[in-house]
Amino acid sequence: MSEEKVTTDIITLTRHVLDEQRKHKEASGDLTLLLNAIQLGCKFVATNVRKARIGLAGGVHNISGDEQKKLDVISNEIFINALRSSGKVAVMVSEENEDVIIVEEGLKGKYCVVFDPLDGSSNIDAGVNVGTIFGVYRVAEGSPGTVKDVLRPGNEMVVAGYCMYGSSANMVITVGNGVNGYTLDNSIGEFILTHPNIYSVNEGNAKYWHEACEEYFHSLKFPPEGKNPYSARYIGSMVADVHRTFLYGGMFAYPADKKSKNGKLRLLYECFPMAFLTEQAGGKATTGYERVLDVCPEDIHSRCPIFLGSKDDVEDVERIYKKYS
Ligand code: AHG
Ligand code: MN
Ligand code: MN
Ligand code: MN
Repeated sequence: MSEEKVTTDIITLTRHVLDEQRKHKEASGDLTLLLNAIQLGCKFVATNVRKARIGLAGGVHNISGDEQKKLDVISNEIFINALRSSGKVAVMVSEENEDVIIVEEGLKGKYCVVFDPLDGSSNIDAGVNVGTIFGVYRVAEGSPGTVKDVLRPGNEMVVAGYCMYGSSANMVITVGNGVNGYTLDNSIGEFILTHPNIYSVNEGNAKYWHEACEEYFHSLKFPPEGKNPYSARYIGSMVADVHRTFLYGGMFAYPADKKSKNGKLRLLYECFPMAFLTEQAGGKATTGYERVLDVCPEDIHSRCPIFLGSKDDVEDVERIYKKYS
């Protein structure tokens, strides 16, 4: 019987980022340490997602009006503590904090992290995959680190990623040089480097859709002769829907509609990181009218319409929206 080959030379996320960093002589190692803090947060949240029975936290709502679950609050505290104690962060924005968080002198670093500590939390009691989404800006030259450092277009982000908590924890990250996927190996506590036509939108909002939106999704369901209709897949957990779009292709959307003039998803810590990852993976992300990454946030919790996925699908959206602009 052949001996099972033991892999003894694994590429962890930390090693992969260090390899990447060695290519840049001026790199200080701060980004590697920041990503280690983010990894710690994800590992810690992953264990809590797996073990805790989740219920409502007494019907408290966050600034976006979302019902805050116990795990939203726990995940939020885990990330704030991990990022603050890394000493690499100056400014934080979290979905669960109404105001921006400025790290105190002595622990202040040169990065700004915007994050959704637990995405898809409305599904958590149904056992649906949830996740964490994060984006990183460098503090602007000469800035002491203020809210202005995060009210910038997503095209100034230097890192974006998400960690999806499912049967395993899958981290997908870009540092601006393509996209890499890592799976958490629980036995050693490290993220290890590991890699059809679908549309994904909440049809429950169809009653409120604008004409351009109606025409686009109708074109997918009733395509010209000879083309097959798209399949519909919608989980309602952005991390899970986007992860599936990356793996199988197609389109994920949360459009603006008559009920939500800018859609539902938050620009800083949901749309920007997912748009940055999509473009780095060779796709596109549009509001219908413009590149998501070129939008400039007015407020740390601004919402933004988003269509993301393969280039062809997104260009079909832009062509139809152009007709109605
Ligand atoms: P969060 O759980 O961080 O508040 O995000 C929920 C978002 C996103 O995960 C998902 O794409 C969207 O809400 C689903 O909204 P609908 O239930 O309105 O479809
Ligand atoms: Mn929420
Ligand atoms: Mn979210
Ligand atoms: Mn959330």
